[in-house]
Amino acid sequence: MSVGSMQDLFIEELRDLYSAENQITKALPKMAKAATSDNLRQAFEGHLEETNVHVERLEQIFEILGKSSRGKACEGMKGLLTEGAEFIKEIEKGDVLDAGLISAAQRVEHYEMAGYGSVRAYAELLGNSKVVDLLQATLDEEKAADQKLTKISHTVNQQAQRAA
Ligand SMILES: [Fe+2]
Repeated sequence: MSVGSMQDLFIEELRDLYSAENQITKALPKMAKAATSDNLRQAFEGHLEETNVHVERLEQIFEILGKSSRGKACEGMKGLLTEGAEFIKEIEKGDVLDAGLISAAQRVEHYEMAGYGSVRAYAELLGNSKVVDLLQATLDEEKAADQKLTKISHTVNQQAQRAA
């Protein structure tokens, strides 16, 4: 599509997030399987459930806006998830891989937070408060997921350091 207005940019970035979230739903089960720490595995499993809701919220938004969710592949997320998958391939299962998985997952969260922060601001500008609320709810969950990973990393990184 050609982007000529803030409304167009808004839809384009929502489609990008929709692609990103769908990619994450496929990656998280693999990351959970690769994790050794119970806390980390549970965090990935919990965030998978949240991510399914993020997909649904975006579908709700496309419905409200009367637009199709399709038409964009998020290359940024594809790259981030490829890097996470490389850790799984290259690092033996254990504490060091867990530390790498946390790092990869936090990159994903920060990328999403940047994306949701932007579209939430656009929705505010365009005066769509229902959409603002839906985007804010997801943004809050991404932030909480990131903070949870930071907390888990304190233990995991120390264990990984001792294992070396
Ligand atoms: Fe998400």
